[in-house]
Amino acid sequence: MTLNFNDPSPALDGASLLITGGTGSFGKAFAHTLLERYEPRRVIIFSRDELKQYEMEQTIPADKRDRVRFFIGDVRDAERLELAMREIDYVIHAAALKHVPAAEYNPFECVKTNIHGAENVVMAALRTGVKRVIALSTDKAASPINLYGASKLASDKIFVAANNLAGTNDTRFAVVRYGNVLGSRGSVLPFFRQLIASNATSLPITHPDMTRFWITLGQGVDFVLSSLEIMSGGEIFIPKIPSMKITDFASAIAPDMPQEIVGIRPGEKLHETMITSDDARTTLELEDRYIIEPSLAFWSNAHLAGHNARPVPDGFEYASNQNNEWLDADGLLRLMKEFGIEY
Ligand SMILES: NC(=O)c1ccc[n+]([C@@H]2O[C@H](COP(=O)([O-])OP(=O)(O)OC[C@H]3O[C@@H](n4cnc5c(N)ncnc54)[C@H](OP(=O)(O)O)[C@@H]3O)[C@@H](O)[C@H]2O)c1
Repeated sequence: MTLNFNDPSPALDGASLLITGGTGSFGKAFAHTLLERYEPRRVIIFSRDELKQYEMEQTIPADKRDRVRFFIGDVRDAERLELAMREIDYVIHAAALKHVPAAEYNPFECVKTNIHGAENVVMAALRTGVKRVIALSTDKAASPINLYGASKLASDKIFVAANNLAGTNDTRFAVVRYGNVLGSRGSVLPFFRQLIASNATSLPITHPDMTRFWITLGQGVDFVLSSLEIMSGGEIFIPKIPSMKITDFASAIAPDMPQEIVGIRPGEKLHETMITSDDARTTLELEDRYIIEPSLAFWSNAHLAGHNARPVPDGFEYASNQNNEWLDADGLLRLMKEFGIEY
């Protein structure tokens, strides 16, 4: 399995970073990794809910607390973002509304956070002279069929095109797109865990053939860090990660529990795609990742020369049912153990 993401990590000692959505599953893992591996000058956690911030603050080691600042703010509020980004070197944009049914039911709210929020992050980063911005995206943004995916596709486009606005400013923007994060808030693992704990008699499976891409939070954090290092602006970075059938996932978590087929939910795909065959025309393959290249006038991939970057074949598609790497039950349990994920 190619999952090392071994590119050099960026030099973040002495740097100031801001994480929108810093109290979420990704944001917390990213902030803790920063504090463990580097000596950042400042890490700003930017999010709305004071309780989540208070709880996160308690988990920061005492000797690191003076480096971390908690900013209450909403990505819909451009002025607040601009204030928070003063003297910031790097921004990781992880704030999002990501619950598919909630986005279908509250479409304007999803648009305001995921699309207007993206524009606000871009404008604030340009105005304050941030060096690099990475925005998190999802497999649901490739050929989207639900509003969450569509809003993240719009966000991806905003971040890629933002490189055109930079002018003489050095601010650069890139996107990291990946699949289901094992154990993240609101994901299938805590859902199954809760059903098992409440003595449910079966686990609901929407479709027996359904497949998904899987990544751990730790791998997601490493992937963002290495993408931050190699980005030159405008790329969509996609990790090579394994797929697994949902039925195999449920069997691995609860081998003795019956599975009940409940039908595909509105807005749900049978398989997820990270690179469509149309995007493949501008996609490069490296050892551990794909890069969808931007169509920006100044874009050149010369800086990837040492990374064995080559174009993918015509008609290539990177979808969860057409993957070379598959997780079986043992592989999943090994991965969970390696990354300390309880089940
Ligand atoms: N989890 C996955 O499986 C997965 C897969 C692929 C991609 N992603 C992407 O990865 C990113 C992070 O996901 P996650 O799993 O860490 O999400 P999460 O656990 O739900 O966290 C979301 C964070 O965003 C904050 N937030 C929400 N609305 C906000 C707003 N309007 N202004 C400021 N902060 C706001 C939340 O805090 P408050 O509510 O306190 O504001 C929270 O800190 C998202 O962009 C998501 O699309 C996730």
